[in-house]
This record gives sequence, structure tokens and C-alpha cells, in this order.
Amino acid sequence: MKFRGAATGLLTGLVLAANTWAAPAATDAMLQQGETLYRSGTSSRNNPVIAVVAGGTRLPGSAASCAGCHGRDGSGRSEGGITAPDIRWTALTQAGTRDLAAGRSAKPYDEATLVRAITRGLDSSGNTLAAAMPRFELYGEDLEALSAYLKQLHLQRDPGITDQRIVIGTVLPLTGVAEKQGRALLAMLQAGIDAINTRGGLHGRTIAIDAENAESEDAPQRLAALGQRTLAIVAPYAPRLQAELRAVARQQVPVVAPVMGPEAQGLDPLFSTLPTARHVLGALAGYWSRLPEQERGTLTVVLGKVNAEATEEFLRDLLPKAGRYRFVSAQSLLDSESAPGQWLLLETAPGLIQQLGSKLRGSRLLAASTSIAGVPGATLAEVERIVVAAPLLPPRDDPAMEKMQSRLRELKLEAPPALVTIQAMRGIAVMEEALRRSGRELSRERLISALENISRMETPGGPLSFGARQRAGARGATLFAMDPSSGRLTLLEPWAPSL
Ligand code: HEC
Repeated sequence: MKFRGAATGLLTGLVLAANTWAAPAATDAMLQQGETLYRSGTSSRNNPVIAVVAGGTRLPGSAASCAGCHGRDGSGRSEGGITAPDIRWTALTQAGTRDLAAGRSAKPYDEATLVRAITRGLDSSGNTLAAAMPRFELYGEDLEALSAYLKQLHLQRDPGITDQRIVIGTVLPLTGVAEKQGRALLAMLQAGIDAINTRGGLHGRTIAIDAENAESEDAPQRLAALGQRTLAIVAPYAPRLQAELRAVARQQVPVVAPVMGPEAQGLDPLFSTLPTARHVLGALAGYWSRLPEQERGTLTVVLGKVNAEATEEFLRDLLPKAGRYRFVSAQSLLDSESAPGQWLLLETAPGLIQQLGSKLRGSRLLAASTSIAGVPGATLAEVERIVVAAPLLPPRDDPAMEKMQSRLRELKLEAPPALVTIQAMRGIAVMEEALRRSGRELSRERLISALENISRMETPGGPLSFGARQRAGARGATLFAMDPSSGRLTLLEPWAPSL
């Protein structure tokens, strides 16, 4: 049995033919009420829910949801030294196999003992459960709804998972001016997935791809629907659907895509395969910190109007290890009579370089490509040295990349620009690794946690690392030396890690 739309919290159209234990038979409304209790610790009937925790403190149920400790899928979790066990009905009713603390028997649970565990903190044999498991003040219909929900939780699966198959969604331009690129990218994703399937799939399942057209008129709606029917989304090239990809991730659908954007992406599972602007600056600061002592001098970090505080906070953590530095605002630099300093790290819009003009004579600039783009050559002619950082450089002589391109030629498809190709290869590689680590008992929750644990994974174009609060995976940038008089770029470091 398969349930749709679990992520949105709706269990509409639920058939309970397989649920032979429930008496009276659980209705959709009841299961929804149970789901709300389980996931958010609140009663959809507005009954108060109280969790009595260690020491007798009474908390609102919303501060101690079952899902928060036992996982959305009920399969259990360990966090901060506390292990909340598997409480899916299959585990609770199995005799003798539950992993219990010393001195407890493993008598199978029934509905009455389940309710007793929740309300009085006694296990199936009447032993006291550890205080880490709160005692809940829940009554009547709420308790009935919660236990009905728990009894079928193990039957639920996130969308896109069957016994044999995992479906991953993607959205690409399949019509319009970028159609050729879109088709080639789709072929690349398919080739990546075919390779996994040829090696036997992952944990007994093959992978399939479900593609939507990013150029169709109703692309936003299609993307939202895709998020509801697939396990996760890999979107290497959907520049016009960034807000929509964020919206899908907000529904707890894991998304892997190159998205640039505010640092505060929150905790939604949107895993970006691009560096953030701040890691690009970090890469420039890192370059400076590796210079010989006598060349390094003092670094002047020039802060613009936008993001200034966040940038300062980020660099203030890192710079003390690296050498002498100071922060100045772009305005004070413009107002000041004196020379701005030898090494300038710019986090400003290109306008500043133009405004500073001749004040830059003899200085050395460290600038993100976005800070220097379009600045007329004449302005830069008197600058002594310029180092430019760009988010990503297409790798040269990367065997994986070459193999992919020759495969596309075989298929008579035009290879998309290298930068886009890299994003597709990264998307597949990251997804494969995370699926592999998630194991056979797959859920979105497990996949998200596997993605968060990816660390220094080698991918075309540089390593990727994510974390529970780290959604931008590429922590560094490609560095170029720019010739001040001609503007010509030469590669300095293909991948410079952020400080
Ligand atoms: C603060 C974390 C936390 C919350 C919230 C929580 N639990 Fe627990 N739960 C635990 C821990 C830890 C144990 C294991 C206690 C032990 O081993 O003695 C446990 C044990 C259980 C058990 C007994 C399992 C067994 O194998 O004997 C059941 C059933 C259970 N919890 C159900 C729930 C339900 C239902 C909710 C929500 C209403 C919930 N828990 C909320 C942490 C939590």
C-alpha cells in the first residue's frame, strides 16, 4: 500500500484494507488527527496536550512531539546521547526482538500497553521507561487517533518509493531556446542513473527519473506536483524556477540544485551545489592568508551596504587566525583622504571600484567576479594586482567529465556548457551517495540526514560538504589573476577553499 502526499500532511484517499487491528476502523479524519499529534504535538480538536518531562516539568505538547524524538517515520533516532527507539507497530509487536534497556522483557505491545506507555511511561511488561520519554496528558479521541496513526505508520512511505523503485524528479528546459541543453542534461542524468542501475541499483531498488518541462506555461504548478510524487528533486539547470525550488523544499522534499542566494536558507532541505557569496569571499581571504608574511601586510575588508553585517560576522570568525586585518565601510573609504591600504577585499557592487578610481593606485584587489564585472579597464589600469574569484571553474582533464561528454556525442546530443554539465554531474553524484547511505529503509527524513552528512565529497569542479546548518555545499571558489591593463584572466587556483 502506498500513501501519497504524506509530506503535506494529508492522508486523503486512504484505504485501510490492510489495517486489521483497528477497531473501530480508523477514518481518514482520525488518522489526520493522529498525524498532527504525532508530528506537531498538538490536537486538531484544540484539546490541550501536555508532556510531563523529567523532573515533572509540564511542557506544551508542541515542545515534545513524538516525531521530534522518534523520527517522522517512527523508526527511532539517537541525538544528544538519548536513543528514542523504533516505535513502528511492526517493531512494538514483535516478540523478543526489541532492543531494550537492561532488565526489561520484550513482550509484544498491544493497544492498551501502547496507550499506557504514552500516558504513564510503562513499557509492555510494566517496567518504567526512562525519563527521557515524556508522559503525555492525552485523552479519549486524541489517544485513539494517535494510536490508530501509530498502528499504520509503518505502512506509510514517502512518495517516489516502492519496493522495487525510487523515483527522482527533475525539471529542465525541454522546449524553447534552451531545449537542446535541456535534452542533453536529461540524457546525462539518465546516463548517470542507468550506470547506477546497471551496477545493481541501490539497496535492491532501481532508480527512475521523472522529468518536467521548465519552459511549460504552468511550470511552477508542475514542479509542485512533481515534488509531491517523487522522493527528491535534482535540478541542475532551472534558473527561472529558483523560488519554486525553495517552495518545494519548504514541503520537506529534498532538493539538490545550484542555487545562489541568501545565506539564511533556513533548515529547509535545499542543498545547493554552488558556493555562497560569503564562501567566495572566504576563498579570497584564504588566498591572502597563504601569502608570505612580508607580502601580506594588513587586509582591508571593504563592506558595502547589503549583507555588510553578515559578511563582517563571517570573516571576523576566520580572519584572526590569518593575519592583520580591519573592516571599513565603502563610504568611509570614499570620504577619506588617505590611501585605502595595500590589500583590499571587496564585498561591494562594481560601482565602488569606479568611484574609488585613482585612489586605487598601487593597491591590490581581491574581488568576487560580481564585484568587478563590467568595470571599465581604464579604472583598473593603475591597480597593482587583481585577484578575482568565481563560484566555479569547469575542470580540465577530468575523466568523469570527458566520459560524460563523449557519451553525449555518441547520443548525438550537444554538450551543454561545462558549468551546467558540472551541476548535473554533481546532482547525480550527491544523490547517489546520499541514497546509498540512507539504506533500504528509505524516507525523505533519512535522505535529508544523509545529505547533511556529506563531507568533502569529491565531485567535478571541487569538493562538496553539507551540514545540518550548511546548505551551500561548495565552500570555496576558483581564483584568477586579472591583468589590470587588459582585463585578461589567467587561472591562479582551480579550487581555493574558503578560509
Ligand atoms: C523527548 C524525546 C521523546 C519524545 C518527545 C517522545 N518519546 Fe517516546 N521514547 C523516548 C525514549 C528516549 C524512549 C526510550 C525509553 C527507555 O528506553 O526506557 C521512548 C520510548 C517510547 C516507547 C516505548 C518503546 C519500547 O520499545 O518499549 C513508546 C511506545 C513511545 N516512546 C512512544 C512515544 C509517543 C507516541 C510519543 C509522542 C506522543 C513519544 N514517544 C514522544 C523519547 C521520546
